[in-house]
Amino acid sequence: MKLWGGRFKKGESKLMEDFNSSLSFDKRLYLEDINGSIVHVNMLKNCNIISEDEGKEIECALRELLKDIEENKIEIKGNYEDIHSFVEINLIERIGNVAKKLHTARSRNDQVALDMRLYSKECAINIKNNLEKLGNTLKCVGENNPYIMPGYTHLQRAQVVTFTHHMKAYEAMFKRDIKRIENAIEILDECPLGCCALAGTTYNIDREFTAKELGFKKPTDNFLDGVSDRDYLIELSADFSIIMMHLSRLSEELILWSSKEFDFISIDDEFATGSSIMPQKKNPDGPELIRGKSGRVYGTLISLLTTMKSLPLAYNKDMQEDKEVFFDALDTTSKCLIVMERIIGTMKVKNESMRNAVKAGFLNATEVADYLVCNGMAFRDAHKVVGEIILFCEEKGVNIEKLTLDELKQFSSCFTEDIYDFIDYEVSITKGIKNNMNM
Ligand code: ARG
Repeated sequence: MKLWGGRFKKGESKLMEDFNSSLSFDKRLYLEDINGSIVHVNMLKNCNIISEDEGKEIECALRELLKDIEENKIEIKGNYEDIHSFVEINLIERIGNVAKKLHTARSRNDQVALDMRLYSKECAINIKNNLEKLGNTLKCVGENNPYIMPGYTHLQRAQVVTFTHHMKAYEAMFKRDIKRIENAIEILDECPLGCCALAGTTYNIDREFTAKELGFKKPTDNFLDGVSDRDYLIELSADFSIIMMHLSRLSEELILWSSKEFDFISIDDEFATGSSIMPQKKNPDGPELIRGKSGRVYGTLISLLTTMKSLPLAYNKDMQEDKEVFFDALDTTSKCLIVMERIIGTMKVKNESMRNAVKAGFLNATEVADYLVCNGMAFRDAHKVVGEIILFCEEKGVNIEKLTLDELKQFSSCFTEDIYDFIDYEVSITKGIKNNMNM
């Protein structure tokens, strides 16, 4: 069943029909397609392009079709080229010839461009909500666990930080992701309906009306660009890729932290799995899967860029390839955000293990150098002195704070009793030396 065929002598090969059909994946656009058609038909009616009665009849049939789909009375499947053909042919079957007027002053090119914009705008808003929820959970879990932990550079213990600060670093990343999504929504918020195939239409249509009714800021400016712009899908895929990169970094930390080597957290049983051979194993599959899935989202970005590269204006069938990969990136990102929020919300934070790791790591070495600087030494000289103290401690097998004042004085006469307070981990954090640590 097709919407075209008048100029063909032979039918399409079955092979080509299957190859060409997008119904199996664009069926998820049914709501946008029907809503877009309802607004289009109202515009045609208002502009006297079709009669009042015709408009009402088509709108009524569209609403019934939507209801039947949502109540599972009709399944979107069969020998149709795409969701647009499915809707229109079903409408003709329902109300006959009058339905054939629906496609006046419209092409499937502006129709699919509209459907994808509506759909991606809605989904981008959902992703934004998921980001907000995850950000809030990170903040809460951070604030509920205001404990000291080692901060790392090069994955080597570096300086003391708090668990709160560490969680809020991820919250900050996801806040930036929200801004990126908001920006993408702002840019895509223009209505392509009325661009028609590529060159607009001879009918006196009202694009302001359709744009407003469909919730867009305005109609797109240029017809050729309006039907063939897929920048917003690329931009959202780039945003999703960055989100996945952030989720993957967080996953990596959770995987490391839940190992016996770190032992800073334990992942709730609900988000871990066991081994079929090693009975003792509890594997962090949740974060591992999130880390692994980042690859397919990056794949979407490259795939869309490659599909669009070198495409001449205006619509080309290549663009049908935007859907499966974009939907996959969308579903993957959304699911990963939801799962990560639960992993964070249910994990157990091991305060004592983190504190022990801090104590074992000379994490106050920089503070010792700062102390010497406060007492008049140049930083480079202080750095050297503390390096020598570390060597001495390593040989003795003790922490800096365990050295006696006499031992410290062997390295510099600047040391006095107040050094112990200065380099105490808890004191240095609460004193506000690291004054944004709890923000
Ligand atoms: N299924 C097509 C797509 O996703 C719809 C537009 C078809 N337009 C056309 N002129 N054949 O891009």
